[in-house]
Amino acid sequence: MAHDAGIPLDAGEARRPLIVATRALPDSTRTALTAVGELRVEEKGRPLTPEELRSAVAGADALVTYLHDRIDSSILDAAGPQLRCVANVAAGYDNVDVDALAHRGVILSNTPGVLTEATADLALAMILALTRRIGEGERLIRAGRPWRWEPGFLLGSGLAGKTLGIIGMGGIGAATARRARAFGMQIRYTGRSPISPELAAELNTGNKLELDELLAGADVVSIHCPLTPATRHLLNRERLAGMRPSAYLINTSRGAVVDEAALVDALAAGSIAGAALDVYEHEPAVHPGLLELENVVLLPHLGSATIETRTAMADLAASNVVAVMSGSPAVTPVPLPGTSGRGSSGAPDSPTGLAR
Ligand code: DGY
Repeated sequence: MAHDAGIPLDAGEARRPLIVATRALPDSTRTALTAVGELRVEEKGRPLTPEELRSAVAGADALVTYLHDRIDSSILDAAGPQLRCVANVAAGYDNVDVDALAHRGVILSNTPGVLTEATADLALAMILALTRRIGEGERLIRAGRPWRWEPGFLLGSGLAGKTLGIIGMGGIGAATARRARAFGMQIRYTGRSPISPELAAELNTGNKLELDELLAGADVVSIHCPLTPATRHLLNRERLAGMRPSAYLINTSRGAVVDEAALVDALAAGSIAGAALDVYEHEPAVHPGLLELENVVLLPHLGSATIETRTAMADLAASNVVAVMSGSPAVTPVPLPGTSGRGSSGAPDSPTGLAR
């Protein structure tokens, strides 16, 4: 029950948890959260500045955060020692200092699974847009440039029989591979661990490859690994040079997995054929060199951007908060360093839509 300021709580009546969300939430999410606490939504029509974030979180028991919110020690200190969980409305959680949370015993959850299909849809759309030069054609028409059908006009590259190399065969990587199979592509992959024999059979793929081998043999390379210290600039200058000159690179995971400056050089030099990017190293800034190039498709981080998916992500974040506020394990906890990998007391390790 809410209390007016200045009216003391009845003896024995517990304070309702304060839940602070940094962006507007769907009605269903608000309803779920207000059932377990006081909800304060700090929507400003833009990400909060670090100062605004620090002041917004003061006194919170739970935070509902987004990928643009940098959650570090200073935010956790500003929240206070009563903070019990951070529910990040994203599969990726590279915006969160996991050591700082682990150190304070704060639970972290993410939203794996619910954005798998939407992100894979977009990855496939980007493969098609790039290989069939859809952006180039659209730009040409919109610029009012003269054109007519010609036998050799804007020829792209077909997908049937080509090889798709997946970096990170988690949920999204596998969903992208399934779609690519329907276009007649062969699937190869690299990742942290081998996929199950069942999935390998379904995708008609062989053993997990080393990254360099994958890059050397793929016609299209699609990135689906999370951004971690180990994957920052995974696609660096040398690795990009190891791709085929006819190959295309697709990135729907996190921009900093690719060395963007090296990518611009590779594209400009024609050492790879093209790139389709939904994410950027210094998002929302886009390397100016990319804007000069025709052989790129540039999207503003739309992977999960469907009404259904964004609602499901917010609802899953709310389920995590509700669980923790009710004394249960988080539903989709992120295993934190130095902990048992369980989101409080006994929940299994989180399956993740992004995998290495
Ligand atoms: C995620 O969930 O990590 C996505 O990038 C959000 O769109």
